[in-house]
Amino acid sequence: MAQEARLPWIIKYRPKRLDEVVDQEEAKAKILEWLKKWPNVPKKALLLYGPPGCGKTSLVEAVANELGYEVLEMNASDFRRKEDIEKVAIRASTMQSLIASGRKKLILLDEVDGIADREDAGGLEAVAELVKISKVPIVMTANNPWDPKLRVLREIAEFVEFKKLRKDDIIRILERICIAEKLKCDKEALDYIATRAEGDARAAINDLQAIGEGFGEVTLERAKALLRPRDKERDPFETLKLLFSAKYAWQAKSVLNQSQLDYEQLKLWLEENIPNQFSDLEDVSRAYEALSKADVYLGRIIRTGDWDLLAYAIDLMTAGVSLSAKNNPRDKDRWTKYSFPQRLLLMSKLKDSRKIRDDLATILAQHLHISTSTAKAEIIPILRAIFISNPEYAAKIAVGLGLSEKMIEMLAGPNKQVVIMHYRRLKEEIEKKAAETIMQLQAKAGRTEKPEARKEKKKEKSQSKTTSTDLTSYFKK
Ligand SMILES: Nc1ncnc2c1ncn2[C@@H]1O[C@H](COP(=O)(O)OP(=O)(O)OP(=O)(O)O)[C@@H](O)[C@H]1O
Ligand SMILES: [Mg+2]
Repeated sequence: MAQEARLPWIIKYRPKRLDEVVDQEEAKAKILEWLKKWPNVPKKALLLYGPPGCGKTSLVEAVANELGYEVLEMNASDFRRKEDIEKVAIRASTMQSLIASGRKKLILLDEVDGIADREDAGGLEAVAELVKISKVPIVMTANNPWDPKLRVLREIAEFVEFKKLRKDDIIRILERICIAEKLKCDKEALDYIATRAEGDARAAINDLQAIGEGFGEVTLERAKALLRPRDKERDPFETLKLLFSAKYAWQAKSVLNQSQLDYEQLKLWLEENIPNQFSDLEDVSRAYEALSKADVYLGRIIRTGDWDLLAYAIDLMTAGVSLSAKNNPRDKDRWTKYSFPQRLLLMSKLKDSRKIRDDLATILAQHLHISTSTAKAEIIPILRAIFISNPEYAAKIAVGLGLSEKMIEMLAGPNKQVVIMHYRRLKEEIEKKAAETIMQLQAKAGRTEKPEARKEKKKEKSQSKTTSTDLTSYFKK
């Protein structure tokens, strides 16, 4: 397959010239004027802001292309540490000498809100520093300009608004791609895709590619069948299917964005299901290798708190695993019955039993006026011995303390059925006895005069106490 054919369309059809950027006329004019005047401008940097997929990054690249700038592009992940930024700054200032000989440069700091999000707040300050010393224009992009964390940028950057693309704009973009790809496409299908995209051309183009590449023709019916509502998260099975069948790294990487699984859970699901999906042994071992590397990164994150490593871990466990099917790529689309991770099952069982133990300790602590930790350390082991060796007595204790059957199961282990049998019988007996007592009481009450009725009620209460005293006597036997 030709390399070009494998490119994601959002990259293949990224606007190369200004007139290919649909709409955003005001922003275009502003950027052009600012670049032409630079460095004679009030603020040495620009911040382009607006919703995702409306053309911010595309426009910078198109303008640079047209005006002959070379773009030194960076995104938030390049700004891990202050040193990185300092390095960029030094490079930027030394580039000055290159300008005379080579092409003009501009620095694109993509998605600066990502820098602001991170805990090491030094990032944005370093950006401000970079703007101060840079000898070349700096253009930044962000989604939310009102984020208080971006306040430091207000003083150093001019803000330029990008509008959310209208449905018609998106349809125009899609039509252009259909023509270039010689893709047959229903008008209603394009309308459907564009409506769903809610102003995000990237989302619309990805959707178009997902349908178009698979089927060669885009109809409304297919669009509806293949594209799920945007707000619905994929369950684990859908997530796995999408991950394994991804053709490109970017497709695989995006599965976690709309999934019920987080990366820890995804790891367990993959661990369980790689051999279900892939049949070739080499493919399987490649996939496990990617997964174990991801695991090493995750371990390191926990040890060092360096969350920037997470991106690598996620890349490995998504794209790394998915693209491991090299010997048998057809496995990727194979229908597979996925199984629930055994480790998760085990963990949830452990969690349950811990909860039961805690509840039991609380009951014991209340009855015996001791702490729950003493109950766990000293009483539960004794109870366990009694429950295993003497089922009948164990049942009495259980009833006396008001233990649940789950607690009995935990204490009695292999003897649980016998203890529960005694326990149920005993409870029945007691209930019967209680019912009889109540009936006797009611009969007595019937004989007494009406004004006494209220007193009877009180009596009934104290009698029911007697029932519980009966219980204690059972317990003490
Ligand atoms: N105005 C537009 N005209 C033509 N194509 C566009 C336009 N906006 C977006 N696209 C298409 O969508 C893709 C994503 O656009 P781009 O990367 O410019 O979005 P962005 O505004 O930078 O979004 P983000 O805030 O998520 O970074 C581009 O590759 C391009 O193909
Ligand atoms: Mg962008």
